[in-house]
Amino acid sequence: MKAQFGSKIGLIAATVGSAVGLGNIWRFPAEVQANGGAAFLIVYIACVFLLGIPVMLGEFALGRYGQTDAVGVYRKLSPGTPWWMTGLIGIVASYVILSFYTVVAGWTFEYLFQSITGELYETIPGDAPGSTAQFADRMAQYVSSTWKPLLYTVVVIAINLGVLLKGVQKGIERLSNLLMPLLFCLLAIFVVVALQLPGAVEGLRFFLTPDFSKITPKVVIDALGQSFFSLSLGMGVLITYASYFPRDTRLTKTAVTVSVLDLLVAVMVGLIIFPAVMSFGLQGESFEGATLVFVTLPEVFARMAGTQIWSILFFLLLFVAALTSTISIGEVSVAYFSDHLKMTRKKACLAVMLPLLVFSPICSLSNGVLSDFRIFGMTIFSCLDAFSTNILLPLGGLLMSIYLGWVAPKGFMKTQLTNDGQHPTRSAGLVSFILKWIAPVLILIIFVAGLL
Ligand code: PFF
Repeated sequence: MKAQFGSKIGLIAATVGSAVGLGNIWRFPAEVQANGGAAFLIVYIACVFLLGIPVMLGEFALGRYGQTDAVGVYRKLSPGTPWWMTGLIGIVASYVILSFYTVVAGWTFEYLFQSITGELYETIPGDAPGSTAQFADRMAQYVSSTWKPLLYTVVVIAINLGVLLKGVQKGIERLSNLLMPLLFCLLAIFVVVALQLPGAVEGLRFFLTPDFSKITPKVVIDALGQSFFSLSLGMGVLITYASYFPRDTRLTKTAVTVSVLDLLVAVMVGLIIFPAVMSFGLQGESFEGATLVFVTLPEVFARMAGTQIWSILFFLLLFVAALTSTISIGEVSVAYFSDHLKMTRKKACLAVMLPLLVFSPICSLSNGVLSDFRIFGMTIFSCLDAFSTNILLPLGGLLMSIYLGWVAPKGFMKTQLTNDGQHPTRSAGLVSFILKWIAPVLILIIFVAGLL
């Protein structure tokens, strides 16, 4: 029998678990900092509603209709045409992303562990205690070393395998039901603590005062790309999860709930990061890449009373966010192997996760011993990141919206969004219009900009 989520809450928790990830916790604040504070937030919210939710609805409609993997649904709707390749692009993108996302999830796990043992806050000879140099050196040493990151990457792969083997309800749904409330509680605690720090108001003011002079076309494109990544669009994750939605699921309500919760997490993260960083005068430091979470925030914790507790709770939060995202990415390929290639779930999980024991270590080592090996001047890690995030994701999303807007059987979106006419909704026409005319143009712009 086809697997299904067992409850509405579970279905939302799993989908939010996929959406909420490193994109919310480190990419979003970095974009806000660089691009005019609240001005970026406003543009970002517009992107979520204009592009994110309609494309999410497209993926939901395909998945729930097809009740199968991201390739199978195109074969079912348009047999004998090459549109199934759109699904394949998503699967390839997801696998590439998985190979480096597991490495980064491993870093978060290691930092959680080092927070528990206190090692993270031990001084390094030559660096002033609690200084930027101390944390920057620690991170550089850790990321470029050979064995430790490999060990933690393998741990992450093993946890993913364990959860995926248990299946949709007993694995993914149960874990999400447990971890998502934990994630929101941790966020709420951090918001309260951050807002009480001395000088927090300065940070709040930065986050909530728009500087529209910073909004350029490039910023709008960044916001579009960020909304795409943050909502887990373009790689078939949401097609796959929606194939586990019961037939009577209200798609519009679900998409709005998931997107608003994802947005809420991003805003809560902003309410934590900016007050905390400004309260300790660290706003001049880099927010780029992994620096915010692995360098700047440990510096903040080092200056707070209860350093270790805050550090443990934060890296737990980061690990939870990363883990539920990796699981959703892995499920795309597991579904393909089991639905399409007719493997048992167990075999499919092994076939997906075991090769990662080769690919993920290569990504990890490309930050260290393999760092001299460059493709287009980039390390393997950065190259795969750029290739999947800037090219495969938008390409998958572009083809999907062209398919839904122009190729899919007439009335497909409307039938799906209204549950066969049982729940008429005015938004169905608007969503179809956006998928036909607006989404392809916007995604094409993200795509071309990513290539330049
Ligand atoms: N949405 C996740 C994040 O914000 O970190 C990342 C992600 C997960 C992207 C799943 C794409 C995806 F299919």
